[in-house]
Amino acid sequence: MAFSSFAFAITLAILYTAGCNATANSDTFSIDLIHRDSVDSPFYDSSMNFSQRVGHAIKRSIIHSKHLNAHHNPKRSTYQTQIIPDHGEFLLNISYGNPPQRVLAIADTGSDLSWIQCEPCIHCYNQSGSLFYPNRSSTYKPVACDTDACKVIGSIDANCSLTRNCPYDAAYGDGSTSNGTISTETVTLGDRVLQDIAFGCGFYNDGVFRPTQGGIVGLGGGDLSLVSQIRAIVPGKFSYCLIPFTLKGGISNKSSKMIFGNIDFGPNAVSTPLLPILPNTYYYVALEGITVGGRRLNLVSNGSKTTKPSKVNMIVDSGTTLTTFPDKLYNQFEAALKEAINVRTIKDPQKILSLCYRYTKVTRLPKVTLHFDGADVEMSRDNLFVPVSNHIMCLAIRSAAGGLPVMGNIAQMNYIVGFDLDNNLVSFKRTDCEKL
Ligand SMILES: *[C@@H]1O[C@H](CO)[C@@H](O)[C@H](O)[C@H]1NC(C)=O
Ligand SMILES: *[C@@H]1O[C@H](CO)[C@@H](O)[C@H](O)[C@H]1NC(C)=O
Ligand SMILES: *[C@@H]1O[C@H](CO)[C@@H](O)[C@H](O)[C@H]1NC(C)=O
Ligand SMILES: *[C@@H]1O[C@H](CO)[C@@H](O)[C@H](O)[C@H]1NC(C)=O
Ligand SMILES: *[C@@H]1O[C@H](CO)[C@@H](O)[C@H](O)[C@H]1NC(C)=O
Ligand SMILES: *[C@@H]1O[C@H](CO)[C@@H](O)[C@H](O)[C@H]1NC(C)=O
Ligand SMILES: *[C@@H]1O[C@H](CO)[C@@H](O)[C@H](O)[C@H]1NC(C)=O
Ligand SMILES: *[C@@H]1O[C@H](CO)[C@@H](O)[C@H](O)[C@H]1NC(C)=O
Repeated sequence: MAFSSFAFAITLAILYTAGCNATANSDTFSIDLIHRDSVDSPFYDSSMNFSQRVGHAIKRSIIHSKHLNAHHNPKRSTYQTQIIPDHGEFLLNISYGNPPQRVLAIADTGSDLSWIQCEPCIHCYNQSGSLFYPNRSSTYKPVACDTDACKVIGSIDANCSLTRNCPYDAAYGDGSTSNGTISTETVTLGDRVLQDIAFGCGFYNDGVFRPTQGGIVGLGGGDLSLVSQIRAIVPGKFSYCLIPFTLKGGISNKSSKMIFGNIDFGPNAVSTPLLPILPNTYYYVALEGITVGGRRLNLVSNGSKTTKPSKVNMIVDSGTTLTTFPDKLYNQFEAALKEAINVRTIKDPQKILSLCYRYTKVTRLPKVTLHFDGADVEMSRDNLFVPVSNHIMCLAIRSAAGGLPVMGNIAQMNYIVGFDLDNNLVSFKRTDCEKL
């Protein structure tokens, strides 16, 4: 890590001098998460049918998780941003500046630094809608290079004699980059106006971004993420409730919700500790086992012959569609599920996923439970299978192929998933997200 929590605490005190008085009375606010394939999303492509859209989401997921495994080049960046930004699945409707300038940005639980494309742009990718104009905002403040804040959050090689500004240089696993100036701005999220939020004003942005992605909102567990920054205003917690893909209507027209601050989970919520694994950007939890129809599967560790159960460190990520298990566990899991379902399998028409059925043939599913440390999370049909056409559903889980195991967003649908940075917990509560 390029910076320590202690040093960052000092930065926060500097950045938040104006932030605390604005909205002190309510400790919760909520915003819509727009799935990139819902009709509200500018990604929505009416020329594609539902199966094609799901197929794209799945392909994006596979590319995304490949990049989760890509090696981070520490020389390029201060930030642990390994996730390919093109494949975030949910967008946040966020505004920067006073008066506010609206941006749709990728909600990324896999990175910390937020940034947007800024004018005057040296090299920007094509963005639908206007770029951010710092000179049209009365609250835009570049962070100076000789401040403690810059020493903590800016690039290590900040050259104060070259520029008075505090540079950042974010590099992603696929070679995409954003660089520019660390600044602070007023950010509007839902009904909440947040002062002095540090972000990157990107004057040089390149890579595989799409025109509708005005930038990234970093929701990782690191100190620079938006969640950590607004801890002075709301508690360091956020939750979301993702609406599942449905067979008939495809993706629901209702928006999924993201809630910052305290929420009351009510009874029947389960919680598992966040693991202290660096970088603290990722939300790691310990998977201790999986039960399929009463049969507990062993977590065979790291290619060894031992059957001693071990734990698997798994990332909970909203930006990845599919769930991945370590190879051996996946093979056991697929075999157990297939045996329990015991009807004829068919091929994925898009040739991506490995276990598919005709939807109507599968009349009952075995009870599938993911056993996290302290939290049993049951997988419903919607968590396990994704409809890939009008008649066919496929298992939305695959082998991690040597990469990091990820709990993807299909497995999280119809759960309130809460990330509590104050108490280092991830919580799950079964909920009908459409009714929330
Ligand atoms: C984003 O928020 C603005 C202001 O509240 C609203 O006018 C706009 O329709 C929203 N856009 C989407 C895609 O939800
Ligand atoms: C604001 O910035 C834009 C682009 O950087 C520039 O073209 C414009 O002249 C500036 N406006 C003012 C009032 O400085
Ligand atoms: C940028 O996008 C617009 C439409 O969104 C298009 O007309 C234009 O040709 C694009 N420019 C480049 C360089 O791709
Ligand atoms: C910093 O800038 C000065 C003046 O332009 C230059 O001589 C020096 O090599 C730079 N140092 C670094 C580390 O880039
Ligand atoms: C920004 O990124 C571009 C492309 O990678 C690079 O040429 C440029 O030197 C970078 N600028 C800074 C200040 O890091
Ligand atoms: C979503 O809205 C579109 C157009 O408004 C409509 O055709 C479609 O049936 C709706 N889908 C669902 C699942 O309600
Ligand atoms: C797992 O195996 C890999 C490669 O075979 C090795 O590099 C790594 O250290 C092993 N991890 C553990 C915990 O044994
Ligand atoms: C969706 O479109 C593809 C390509 O045109 C086609 O092969 C497929 O049958 C369509 N699926 C549905 C459910 O209409």
